[in-house]
Amino acid sequence: MNASHLIGRCFAPKFLLAALAVVLPVTLQAGVTIRILGDSDVGAGGKWMRAVCQEWAKKTGNTLEYVNRPKDASDTLRQCQQNWAAHSPDVDVYMIDVIWPGIAAPHAVDLKKYYTDADLKQFFPRIVENNTVKGKLVSIPYFTDAGLLYYRTDLLKKYGYSDPPKTWEELAEMAKKIQDGERKDGKNDFQGFVFEGTASESITCNAVEWIYSFNGGSVIDPDGKVTINNPNAVKALDNAKSWIGTISPKDVTTYGEDDARNVWQQGNAAFMRNWPYAYSLGQASDSPIANKFDVSVLPKGGDSGKNAAALGGWNLMVASYSKNPDVAADLVKFLASPEIQKRHAVDISLLPTRPELYKDSEVIGKNPFFAKMLDVLNNAVSRPSTVTGSDYGQISAAIYQNANKVLNGGESGQDAVVNIERVGKQILQ
Ligand code: GLC
Repeated sequence: MNASHLIGRCFAPKFLLAALAVVLPVTLQAGVTIRILGDSDVGAGGKWMRAVCQEWAKKTGNTLEYVNRPKDASDTLRQCQQNWAAHSPDVDVYMIDVIWPGIAAPHAVDLKKYYTDADLKQFFPRIVENNTVKGKLVSIPYFTDAGLLYYRTDLLKKYGYSDPPKTWEELAEMAKKIQDGERKDGKNDFQGFVFEGTASESITCNAVEWIYSFNGGSVIDPDGKVTINNPNAVKALDNAKSWIGTISPKDVTTYGEDDARNVWQQGNAAFMRNWPYAYSLGQASDSPIANKFDVSVLPKGGDSGKNAAALGGWNLMVASYSKNPDVAADLVKFLASPEIQKRHAVDISLLPTRPELYKDSEVIGKNPFFAKMLDVLNNAVSRPSTVTGSDYGQISAAIYQNANKVLNGGESGQDAVVNIERVGKQILQ
């Protein structure tokens, strides 16, 4: 029997009703099925989230169905867009990428209804702002992300290096020396540097980092000026091309996050660009590289360049086509809560979206590099998603198709920036 039954039977006077309303929490509906399109099977994110969602189902007396999705972010966006175009009630909660709010906004419930201002202040303001489109709070920050350089501390030492590379030029030199040495020692598959080169959102992040690190800007300025066609951006792309077949395998142009990580985690690479999720997996007791690596900021493009980490991350949205938005929002609140975010960080090294957790001794104890991450996140470079809004998919496709083509030898860096510029100008005209 719930509160409304009680009140109905007793014909309680108004003041009693008011008092009850204060002391009794609003009863959450039970017995419904909520479907979530959550984290993928890149790393441990999907497995972890599946289990935690079931805890919520058990706690609230609801049923939870976890919807499968591809590993690749761009493929996932296509799956979401199909559902949204069909106004499908089949998925209640979506985990959406930090670059999608403009695309997802028309299909989202305004989550402000479920949060007080004080609640929202506990998240990174930059992400809440990113997730707010024309006043609508499209999604709640679940975890944040930033591109990192992973490096093998044991191999750096073996080849006479005391610190990770400060510039991409240094990285190439070190990677070559280590690769040559390891191959001579019989490790024929050993690679100097692996990263995500596949033609999808994965390489968009890398390309944005290369370009920004060479002082080539961020493709489109926040005020809408398309800046990609400049000599530093060309240099950055041509520089990345020089790695292919020298310090990076030729098929790096097909690698997503986990392809790069698999090579790295088997002990077959000196350096890797990847996201924080790879840290806990690399440190696992059965990992061949446990205690043999560390992470650092990504290198600069030359001494006058900048350290650039792409800002990534995922957020939770309730679809406006959901038949049970209040129950769905309760799942979102649970997943984004301090307790669950703390476990997320401790268990699988995903970065919390609540700054207070970066002071938590258990979180830092498990992931010492988190202590440096507030600074990295504050300086992280955004992809041009706010400025392009619902057209972000087009500019990202132009970046990833052209950057990938440069790596494959299909066009020059100069042709790539002209092609990307054309798409940017079409979107913003
Ligand atoms: C990571 C980032 C996300 C990015 C994706 C690209 O998952 O968190 O923002 O779009 O990688 O593959």
